[in-house]
Amino acid sequence: MTVTQAIQARRSIRRFKKGADITQEQIETMLKAAMMAPSACNTRPWQFIVIKDRAKLDAIASVHPYAKMLGDASLAIVVCALPSVQEGIAEGYFPEDCGACTQNILLAATELGLGSCWCGVYPKEARIDEMREILGIEDRDIVPFNVIVLGVADEAPQARGFFEESKVRYL
Ligand SMILES: Cc1cc2nc3c(=O)[nH]c(=O)nc-3n(C[C@H](O)[C@H](O)[C@H](O)COP(=O)(O)O)c2cc1C
Repeated sequence: MTVTQAIQARRSIRRFKKGADITQEQIETMLKAAMMAPSACNTRPWQFIVIKDRAKLDAIASVHPYAKMLGDASLAIVVCALPSVQEGIAEGYFPEDCGACTQNILLAATELGLGSCWCGVYPKEARIDEMREILGIEDRDIVPFNVIVLGVADEAPQARGFFEESKVRYL
């Protein structure tokens, strides 16, 4: 699969086959893709929490109104931002950097034949606090950024992305 094919094939998946396994090798492939993302001044302001524990997955589903699909998912990767590692000219770029590494995970998952869904956390303060609580993150320098839900898709939704010429300007 080429990168372009993965971009075209990726969908947000909200129905998963219950009990499907994701191997450690697949997890590491996705994490390696994440950490190859560009970041401001190569500050790499990210950390990852791989959640396989069913009780934790259900706890997140119970507080996050748009992550109920966690109930049937195989696991989740929580991308955490580290804003405090960025100062000077890199300061404040962590949302772009964490977004780039998230997209790399989604595309790697697509290539592996896995379904995924990016569920937003940052910048919603209440959601950040709930995630801190569930994941036991006491360090205020670690900011839960999103929850990437992963599993084997049990649906094949139509593409929602499309090209809009009107959004492009050539100079
Ligand atoms: C920042 C962000 C937050 C999102 N949060 C959620 C979410 O909480 N729950 C969900 O089901 N989808 C979420 N999505 C997925 C979007 O709804 C989805 O990307 C969009 O509808 C386009 O569909 P596609 O991903 O299949 O192309 C989020 C996407 C982004 C980029």
